[in-house]
Amino acid sequence: METGCRLDASSFLVLAALSLSACVTVSAQIKPLVYEEQLLWVSGAQAEVNTYRIPLITFTPKGSLLAFAEGRKLSSGDVGAKFIAMRRSTDKGSTWSPTSFVVDDGLKPDGLNLGSVVVDEEVGSVILIYSICFHLYHCSPSSTMMVESRDDGLSWSPPRNLSVQLGVKAFVGGPGFGIQKRYPPAKGRLVVCGHGTIEGDGVFCILSDNHGKTWYNGAALKSIPYNQQKKAQDFNPDECQPIEMLDGTIVINVRNQNNYHCRCRIVVSSKDGGLTLPVDNLTFDSSLVDPVVAAGALQKDGVLYFTNPSSDQKRVNLTLRWSLTNGTSWVDNPLQIWPGPSGYSSMTSLDSGTAEDRKHIFIIYEKGEKDYYETVSFVKIHLYGGK
Ligand SMILES: *[C@@H]1O[C@H](CO)[C@@H](O)[C@H](O)[C@H]1NC(C)=O
Ligand SMILES: *[C@@H]1O[C@H](CO)[C@@H](O)[C@H](O)[C@H]1NC(C)=O
Ligand SMILES: *[C@@H]1O[C@H](CO)[C@@H](O)[C@H](O)[C@H]1NC(C)=O
Ligand SMILES: *[C@@H]1O[C@H](CO)[C@@H](O)[C@H](O)[C@H]1NC(C)=O
Repeated sequence: METGCRLDASSFLVLAALSLSACVTVSAQIKPLVYEEQLLWVSGAQAEVNTYRIPLITFTPKGSLLAFAEGRKLSSGDVGAKFIAMRRSTDKGSTWSPTSFVVDDGLKPDGLNLGSVVVDEEVGSVILIYSICFHLYHCSPSSTMMVESRDDGLSWSPPRNLSVQLGVKAFVGGPGFGIQKRYPPAKGRLVVCGHGTIEGDGVFCILSDNHGKTWYNGAALKSIPYNQQKKAQDFNPDECQPIEMLDGTIVINVRNQNNYHCRCRIVVSSKDGGLTLPVDNLTFDSSLVDPVVAAGALQKDGVLYFTNPSSDQKRVNLTLRWSLTNGTSWVDNPLQIWPGPSGYSSMTSLDSGTAEDRKHIFIIYEKGEKDYYETVSFVKIHLYGGK
């Protein structure tokens, strides 16, 4: 752990015992509480948009927060014309800019879908990966697209078609964030993982070793039977969230689309920076009961966090869990964020190393009274019980 756990040689003899116990207490003290919550988008209430769904949130290299969602123009369905809506906060989530639209797909019958946001801290850019025509209704082929901001989210490049480099396939990132590797192997690499349909379902990662200039296909965890119609309980890994552990392993938390083995999450890891996802390194986490949904995962200062609607049947009960053991166990007193209808969620944190930034993580999730897609809500979590 980075936080207050490093022992230097001169203090070692005197302070070793003391500091080691301090390390243990830092983790043991974790007692998340909802510090503040506000709705960023309300479906139906804003002009031109029927429904806001698929929320993403990221930090930026300058310490701002950017929130994104699909603004579905005509209906709540996955297929159809959309905007990519964005709001920006420069004060750690207290206030947010008005909504701007980063991408408008016109009135395409099978429009765009989010998507992954990935920050390149080495060059200071924020990259958004989305797809168009993912569902292949009324259109083909499906394309993987990218826009980029070099000014903290204020302006965005024109869309670039990554399918030219990746080949034509249906791939949609996350939904959630991609990562830039902070530790070896492949330090600096951008790793965006998502799922695909056209080539038969599964989790796929696309990689860039030059800050998003060129992309290539990395790891694939294929469904079984591959490229064939699925039945209930077939192996069908779907939407996913990668995180990097402190030893450089990438751990991907995956939606278990057909409830193979359990009504819980698939967890699979890559030791080679996203090139492979061996079946040897795949587990089912029976603690992470799931109603088949896109969930949030985050690693901060050696602690893992996980959000989903905690229910094996319904999208209700949005819950934050944390693990002090690299995901081998989860604390047994999770924090319920919202008992009612709740859907997709995503998390981020600011990692400047300041005491203030160590104390918080940020969650964005779909929240409703009757249906989970009524609003998109932002939650600032205090990790140490408000202290
Ligand atoms: C993106 O590139 C692929 C491969 O060249 C092409 O088939 C597809 O039509 C392009 N999509 C768009 C939206 O231009
Ligand atoms: C992956 O599997 C290999 C072979 O079983 C094992 O040696 C390694 O520790 C595993 N790594 C992870 C991250 O689970
Ligand atoms: C909500 O989640 C908690 C934690 O998993 C669980 O104990 C509780 O039974 C859940 N409530 C409902 C209504 O599913
Ligand atoms: C978690 O993994 C890190 C390396 O990534 C290791 O240093 C630490 O000891 C592990 N913690 C536990 C509780 O296994």
